Amino acid sequence: MLEEITATRYVTPLREGGSLPGVMEADDLGTYAVKFRGAGQGRRVLVAEVVCAELARRLGFRTPELKVVEVDPQLGAREPDEEIQDLLKASAGRNLAVDFLPGALGFEPLAWPPDPAFASRLLWFDALVHNVDRSWRNPNLLLWHGDVWLIDHGAALWFHHNWRTADPQRGFDAGDHVLAPFATAMGEADAELGERITPGLLDEVLAEVPGEWLADEPGFDGAQAVRRAYAEHLLARARGPRAWLPEPGTGAPAPREEKRSGSVGAFWRGTR
Ligand SMILES: Nc1ncnc2c1ncn2[C@@H]1O[C@H](COP(=O)(O)OP(=O)(O)O)[C@@H](O)[C@H]1O
Ligand SMILES: [Mg+2]
Repeated sequence: MLEEITATRYVTPLREGGSLPGVMEADDLGTYAVKFRGAGQGRRVLVAEVVCAELARRLGFRTPELKVVEVDPQLGAREPDEEIQDLLKASAGRNLAVDFLPGALGFEPLAWPPDPAFASRLLWFDALVHNVDRSWRNPNLLLWHGDVWLIDHGAALWFHHNWRTADPQRGFDAGDHVLAPFATAMGEADAELGERITPGLLDEVLAEVPGEWLADEPGFDGAQAVRRAYAEHLLARARGPRAWLPEPGTGAPAPREEKRSGSVGAFWRGTR
């Protein structure tokens, strides 16, 4: 299970994406990007975050450590922005803390041409978990200490917003995936990663999801049944036909002239 901590301070909102996570400090003296249960589509987003990040980590990707953080809405009492006050009120209790990577930069494929093997493994992973949020406009990749770190998997596993639509064979549209044009070794990535998706690995990953975020899911008899459904879906996808696997080197390269997501380093430097 993920470690449990208690938030001690709301520092600032992170406005690059859409869900308004907040930088928070906690009683373990850590600093975290906190993703709130009360944001947008609710607790299923946090489930997707945990499942995908913990799976990615076990497949060899870098992704910040996750903890469960207890949030008291009073911590936002002095925030002038009412939207943030409301978000914290709707999120009283347990939320997801993502270890904050200080000074990380937003990933730029033009500045840091990715290695084809890495690009292929990442595209394979995103296709496996139906992650539609890795576009060149908003890659949700951070450059930190010379490595690429994966963040923000809240939009993945989107079938869970209506479990009847869950289809392990569903294709993946790699059209605007930030690394698709560099992913020229999809066969190798598939051979390497496919066999690492085992029932044991998936059980281990699903065990990390707090039961509270899985309880009362319509159509399921308790949190354990929901865990089993995620594991069976991912196993069926990894073991079944490859209709979902993107072709090597598809997608358009990011246009040079467009402004993409900025640097989070700027925020961090400004606070020191
Ligand atoms: N662990 C982290 N370390 C540093 N910066 C982060 C971290 N998590 C998020 N951020 C910054 O905050 C932004 C929004 O967070 P993200 O998880 O992508 O949420 P959203 O759902 O709003 O897109 C990211 O694009 C990134 O700039
Ligand atoms: Mg994001």
